[in-house]
Amino acid sequence: MNQQPKQQPHKIIFDTDPGVDDAMAFFFADAHPQLQIVGITTIFGNVAVEQSTANTLRLVDIAGGDYPVAAGLGKALAGEPRPYPHWVHGKDGFGDINWPASNRSPDQRPAVDFIIETLKASPGEITLVPVGPLTNIAAALARAPEIAELVREVSIMGGAINCPGNVTPLAEANVANDPEAADAVLGAGWKASLIGLDVTMKAVISSQDIARITGSGSEKAKFLAAAAAPYIDFYRNNAGVDGCCMHDVCALARLVAPEIFTMEEAAIRVACEGFSRGKSAAMPPGHPAADESWQSRPVQSYARAIDNTAMLELFIETLSGQTQP
Ligand code: BDR
Ligand code: CA
Repeated sequence: MNQQPKQQPHKIIFDTDPGVDDAMAFFFADAHPQLQIVGITTIFGNVAVEQSTANTLRLVDIAGGDYPVAAGLGKALAGEPRPYPHWVHGKDGFGDINWPASNRSPDQRPAVDFIIETLKASPGEITLVPVGPLTNIAAALARAPEIAELVREVSIMGGAINCPGNVTPLAEANVANDPEAADAVLGAGWKASLIGLDVTMKAVISSQDIARITGSGSEKAKFLAAAAAPYIDFYRNNAGVDGCCMHDVCALARLVAPEIFTMEEAAIRVACEGFSRGKSAAMPPGHPAADESWQSRPVQSYARAIDNTAMLELFIETLSGQTQP
């Protein structure tokens, strides 16, 4: 009998600012048989980096995993810090549900060192999945530009190419939190994909869907139901959506289920000045009006469309332990 060759898992460094949708994404990465977390790096964004590190350690506890967690940078490469969005993720990033703190300790290495050392130790094998501001990734690239050749690919949650932003009319939060970093990461000579609000605003999960995750008595299911409730209230009141957006899960789902996403090739830039600061813009290859500053950019890709029904089922199946390797 012919056996289908087994897919090699994607070895990932998950760079995160938990955050309720970051928590969903972490549980997805932990549970999906084609994803292998080799380390987690933390970043400011939804909360300060100290809280984001403490939250990541809590998530590792809940999942019962044994992943290195390296603490990352606490502010953007340039510009004034933006407020932490306590009205979206709560003051503690998890909807203020008072989940117990972890006794685990972070890795001794700072996130930027961890990223550089891990990529150098496994050339061509590791995919970076940043789902917060791109500061750690840009800082690693600035310190060791050779990592652009060592990474397998970079799958980013961020940006709003053909749709409004969520922190200004033009800018999405992760990119707006460090536009210079995002522009550097999208301008590097590696394969980068931007999974932005164009698709993630359609990747909605309701409280009823969360209740479908089997073993709803498990720690993971209890945590998700509790932490997602205020996040869902935010979306219901502000975006007219019956549920919340699984933004960060999408950057992982694209790796294991690319058929769910319609990707578009383009050079991508981020505006760093004025009222458009944080706006991400795309230019398809061969655009006739492109000036030199666009022509010299590498061709990357961004997500234009999503099959949101397939996305939801993939998330629920994966967290219920039903996804086949
Ligand atoms: C992004 O911003 C954060 O609030 C979310 O965790 C996600 O990474 C969505 O714009
Ligand atoms: Ca995030």
